[in-house]
Amino acid sequence: MLIFGIVISFSSRITRILQNFIYDNYPNTGGLKVHVNPINSGGEHASHTGAILTIQDITNIKKLEQIRTEFVSNVTHELKTPLTSIRGFVETLRNGAFEDKNVAEKFLQIIDIEAERLYMLISDILQLSEIENRTVDENIKPHDLKLLMEQILPILNEAASKKNIKITCDIECGLKLRANSDRIKQLMINLIDNAIKYNKESGSVNIRVCRSEGRLIIRVSDIGIGIPAEHIPRIFERFYRVDKGRSRSMGGTGLGLSIVKHIVN
Ligand SMILES: Nc1ncnc2c1ncn2[C@@H]1O[C@H](COP(=O)(O)OP(=O)(O)OP(=O)(O)O)[C@@H](O)[C@H]1O
Ligand SMILES: [Mg+2]
Repeated sequence: MLIFGIVISFSSRITRILQNFIYDNYPNTGGLKVHVNPINSGGEHASHTGAILTIQDITNIKKLEQIRTEFVSNVTHELKTPLTSIRGFVETLRNGAFEDKNVAEKFLQIIDIEAERLYMLISDILQLSEIENRTVDENIKPHDLKLLMEQILPILNEAASKKNIKITCDIECGLKLRANSDRIKQLMINLIDNAIKYNKESGSVNIRVCRSEGRLIIRVSDIGIGIPAEHIPRIFERFYRVDKGRSRSMGGTGLGLSIVKHIVN
């Protein structure tokens, strides 16, 4: 916040002074809030002899408001899609489709998939808000990354073997990371899950972890469809998907990489 006080005797000059001040100091502002408090120097009946202007740059507040509005509208949309589908299939079953056992079974499967999607979406949103709200994490300890990876890979084996995908790991021995082990697992699972999901049949995934210039570098690479360069800047945004149809049909919520970013931060 910036407090700018001026004493003015000619009110016609106020606007010009203010305009020049704003143009000079806030050329790229997304919004300013200006409060004007008149100063009375000569008692109750005196005319105003000056004013104190308080100018507040509200660009960040506006940006945050916009992010919050977009988030709420995205969440609503994402929750509505599977719910609409569930209600549609329940209605069709009620209208007689349940009498055909095969059709009923198929519809129940779809309802199950959509309900699972809802569940995943809600748990991803809860995870994000838990990571965001936790300022102090008491579970930070040094962890051996090779050992952590041995616990993570079995979780992803089923998805990998369904697509006949080979996962290889190059992790230097003795590499340790001070972190919350659950968060690191979550981070790795999200990255490797993507590498499997957006890979081709019988493809491969390679995980490399090494130290370089005091930093730990985790690299997960795959030989799948890849991410076109123009999408990279937005890939960590909540609900952002390169191919909305494809990701949704794969059950993705578009929150995985956003969770990864929050964990790293
Ligand atoms: N390894 C990858 N190869 C190709 N595209 C990817 C890869 N990883 C992510 N993407 C693209 O980035 C988007 C965002 O990924 P993210 O993990 O945030 O969401 P998701 O996988 O769609 O859903 P979720 O992870 O929440 O189930 C994906 O929808 C996909 O389009
Ligand atoms: Mg994902």
